[in-house]
Amino acid sequence: MTDNFDYDLLVIGSGPGGYVAAIRAAQLGLKTACVESRETLGGTCLNVGCIPSKAMLHASEIYHEAHSGALEKFGIKLTGTKLDLKQMHAEKSKAVEELTGGIAFLFKKNKVDWIKGHAAFESANSVKVGKKTVTAKNIMIATGSSVTPLPGVDIDNSKHVIVDSTGALDLPKVPGHMVVIGGGVIGLELGSVWLRLGAKVTVVEYLDKILPGMDGDIRKDAARIFKKQGFDIKTSTKVTGASVKGKKATLTIEPAKGGDAETLEADVVLVAIGRKPNTEGLALDKAGLSTNDRGQIEVGHDFQTSVPGVYAIGDVTPGPMLAHKAEDEGIAAAEFVAGQQGIVNHDLIPGVVYTHPEIASIGKTEEEVKEAGIKYKVGKFPFMGNSRAKTNRDTDGYVKVIADAESDRVLGAHIISSLAGTLIAQVTQAMEFGTTSEDIAYTCHAHPTHSEAVKEAAMAVQGKPIHI
Ligand code: FAD
Ligand code: NAI
Repeated sequence: MTDNFDYDLLVIGSGPGGYVAAIRAAQLGLKTACVESRETLGGTCLNVGCIPSKAMLHASEIYHEAHSGALEKFGIKLTGTKLDLKQMHAEKSKAVEELTGGIAFLFKKNKVDWIKGHAAFESANSVKVGKKTVTAKNIMIATGSSVTPLPGVDIDNSKHVIVDSTGALDLPKVPGHMVVIGGGVIGLELGSVWLRLGAKVTVVEYLDKILPGMDGDIRKDAARIFKKQGFDIKTSTKVTGASVKGKKATLTIEPAKGGDAETLEADVVLVAIGRKPNTEGLALDKAGLSTNDRGQIEVGHDFQTSVPGVYAIGDVTPGPMLAHKAEDEGIAAAEFVAGQQGIVNHDLIPGVVYTHPEIASIGKTEEEVKEAGIKYKVGKFPFMGNSRAKTNRDTDGYVKVIADAESDRVLGAHIISSLAGTLIAQVTQAMEFGTTSEDIAYTCHAHPTHSEAVKEAAMAVQGKPIHI
C-alpha cells in the first residue's frame, strides 16, 4: 500500500491505544511505525498510570492486611511487620519495566518501527520528528492525555509537596497528612495507597458526592465505606489557593457555593481533578485539523478525523479516558485503515475503580435510565448474603442490576465488591449479547463464588432472590 510514502500507517503515541493499533495494523500487513516521545513504550498507562498505580494498590493492601491486625481473626498473628517503601517502589518499577519492555518485544516481533522523538505535523501525510521528516499514507493520533492543572496550586513533583498522580506514585516517604483535591478515580485509588501505608488522607471534592458519573447509590455507599476506612471526605468544597513553606503546604478551602474560608495543612497535596487531551505541540493546523471546545479531536464511526487519512483514538478523543477504550479503538481503527470494518460498542465500556472494595460499572446508571424516561426495575443483592464473601469475611458491597421493565433487557449493572472488576466482565459480555435479567438468573454460577451475587441480583429484578 505504501505508494511513495515511508509507511502505510504512522501512529503518534505508544499508549494502550497507539501500541495496540500499531501491532494490529502490522498484523494486517501494513508497513507501520509508531513515534513516541517518552524513553519507553506503553504511554501513561504502563509508565505512570494503570500499572504502577495497581502495583502500589496491591502492595499497600498486603501491607495493610499484615500490619493492621486484620489477619488475626483468621488465626494469623504477625509481629514486627515493617514497611520498606523503597523496596515497594522497586517492585513496582520492575513490573513497569517488564511490561514496557514487553511492548518493545512485540513491536520487533510484528515488525513495527519504533521512532523515538516528538512528532509534529508538517502536512496531513507527514510529521517532523527531530530533524527528520516521516511520511505516511495514513496517520493515527494516539497522543493521550495529561493532568489538568488547578490554577493557584502549582504542581512540582520533584519537591514531593504538591504533586500530580505521577508524583504521588513515587513519594519517598509516607506523608503524615495527604490532601487529595478531587474525589474521582485517581484521588480514591492513590489516596487508598497512602491511607493503607499510614497517612491521614483528606479528600476535597467540589461536587456534593464523590465519583461523578457513577450510579447514585454506588456513590453514596462507596463514600460510606471509604469514611469507615478512615478517609476524611469533604464534599461541596473548593480549594481557592495553596502556599508551600519548606516541606508543608497550606491550602485555603471554602464551601463550593461560597462562605467562610478555612485552611488545611498538608505534607503532600495530590491534585487529581481530571485529565486533558494532549494536542499541544502537534501542529494540528498543518494537517488541517482543529480541536473541539473540550480540546479533543472529533472522529467519525471509523475513527477518521475531518481530514481523510488522519485518524484519532484514545484519550485525545471524546469518551471515557480509559486504557481498554483506547485499546479497542486502536484495534478497530487499524482495521478500518486496512479496509476492514472495526467495531467498538461505546455504550458498553466498563469502568472500574481499584480501591478496596473495588467499584465497577457497566451500561446506564439509574439516574440516566430515569432521565431517559425508561420504565425500569432494579435488583440488588448484598454480599452479606453471599456465602463465599461471608466465608472470606469480605461482605462490603452489593450487586445492582437495572433492567427494562417491559423487555427485561439489562440496561446497567453496578457492583461494589473486592472482586467487582472481575465480576463486571460477565455482565458486560452478557449485555453485548442483549441479555435479559432472566438469562443471567437462569445461568448456572459456580458455588461458592462471589459471582453468585450477580445471579441473585438478576433474580432480585423479578423479586425472587433466594438468599435474602
Ligand atoms: P496515553 O497512554 O496517554 O499515551 C500517549 C502517548 O503518546 C504518551 O506516551 C505520550 O508520551 C505520547 N505522545 C504524546 N504526544 C506525542 C507526540 N507529539 N509525539 C510523540 N509521542 C507523543 N485506565 C484504565 O483503564 N485503568 C486503570 O487502572 C487506569 N489507571 C490510571 C491511573 C493513573 C494514575 C492515570 C494517570 C491514568 C489511569 N488510567 C487508567 C487511564 C489510562 O492511563 C489512559 O486512559 C490511557 O493510557 C490512554 O491511552 P492512550 O493510548 O490514549 O494515551
Ligand atoms: P476524575 O474525573 O475521575 O475525578 C476528578 C474529580 O475532581 C471529580 O470528582 C471532580 O468533580 C473533582 N474536581 C474537579 N475540579 C475540582 C476542584 N477544583 N476542586 C475539587 N474537586 C474538583 O479525574 P481523575 O481522578 O483526575 O482521573 C483522570 C482520568 O484518569 C479519569 O478520567 C479516569 O478515567 C482515568 N483513570 C482511570 C482509572 C481506572 O480506570 N481505574 C484510574 C485512574 C485514572
